[in-house]
Amino acid sequence: MAPGPVVDAPGEPTLYGSSPAAPTAVTAERSRGGVRHDQEPGRIDAIALSQWFSGRKVLERCTLSMEPGRVTALIGPSGCGKSTFLRALNRMHELVPGAQLSGQVLLNGVDIYSEDISPTEVRLRIGMVFQKPNPFPAMSIADNVLAGLGLSGSKTDDAEALVEQCLRRAGLWEEVKNRLHEGGMSLSGGQQQRLCIARSLAVHPDVLLMDEPCSALDPISTRVIEETIRELCHDITIVIVTHNMQQAQRVSDDCAFFLVETLGEPGRIVEHGPTERIFSNPSDPRTLDYVNGRFG
Ligand SMILES: Nc1ncnc2c1ncn2[C@@H]1O[C@H](COP(=O)(O)OP(=O)(O)OP(=O)(O)O)[C@@H](O)[C@H]1O
Ligand SMILES: [Mg+2]
Repeated sequence: MAPGPVVDAPGEPTLYGSSPAAPTAVTAERSRGGVRHDQEPGRIDAIALSQWFSGRKVLERCTLSMEPGRVTALIGPSGCGKSTFLRALNRMHELVPGAQLSGQVLLNGVDIYSEDISPTEVRLRIGMVFQKPNPFPAMSIADNVLAGLGLSGSKTDDAEALVEQCLRRAGLWEEVKNRLHEGGMSLSGGQQQRLCIARSLAVHPDVLLMDEPCSALDPISTRVIEETIRELCHDITIVIVTHNMQQAQRVSDDCAFFLVETLGEPGRIVEHGPTERIFSNPSDPRTLDYVNGRFG
């Protein structure tokens, strides 16, 4: 499907939110049809995404293709918009008062901001794992894994098998198989994070977004999650934000470097490409300085 027109200036059509310059926002042209429910890893295309909060532009025309079955790392100094970009891929800002977005996000060619697609449907296709593990505290380990099914309205004939499958894929099964009915909060931080990954997997997403999933974890738990990511990426497209340059090199196939060039300006993608090239031979000298730890 060909992308529709894209605009990004206040006063121009936006996907949601009132334009600071034009309180009566015009609705952007949107695609029709549902998000496909296949089991293949999804392709996400962000096209000229700009984001404002209360009239302040924080992301400027970010265009990035996140390829099926690959891991894309989003890197850059604090405040350059990595989390904002990631959240925009999951429709997470549209209820934030004063938030405004322009551009497009396509999942397998379909606009996830289309009027025909609900945020719930988007989040079933595109899962999210946060910096701080957030298992449901009142639920057992097994029930945490199954928690998303209610949201999706789907049922499983064999809940036990699904729990085992998801916990295995998240690299947690061996550690919890004899305590599935204990509370999710009884696990260590690293185990809780893998439980959250297992919970995301239960609804068979095409894409998994991860915002610094290891930043609160010890090196061993971090390694386990990185191995899990490398296993999962055969079936699921993964986009991960990380401040850890070694981690970006270990887990990602592609990398996008975000930067606020001048204080007060919005964040931009300076460059993106295969991780190996971004770390060894980037085209922008600022990328080289950043990946070598010279700033940020
Ligand atoms: N809900 C919000 N309301 C207002 N401003 C926001 C909101 N979310 C993000 N911002 C602003 O957007 C800019 C980018 O923030 P973002 O959290 O995306 O940066 P980041 O690259 O993820 O930083 P870090 O590496 O520290 O997590 C910041 O200036 C931040 O203050
Ligand atoms: Mg962030």
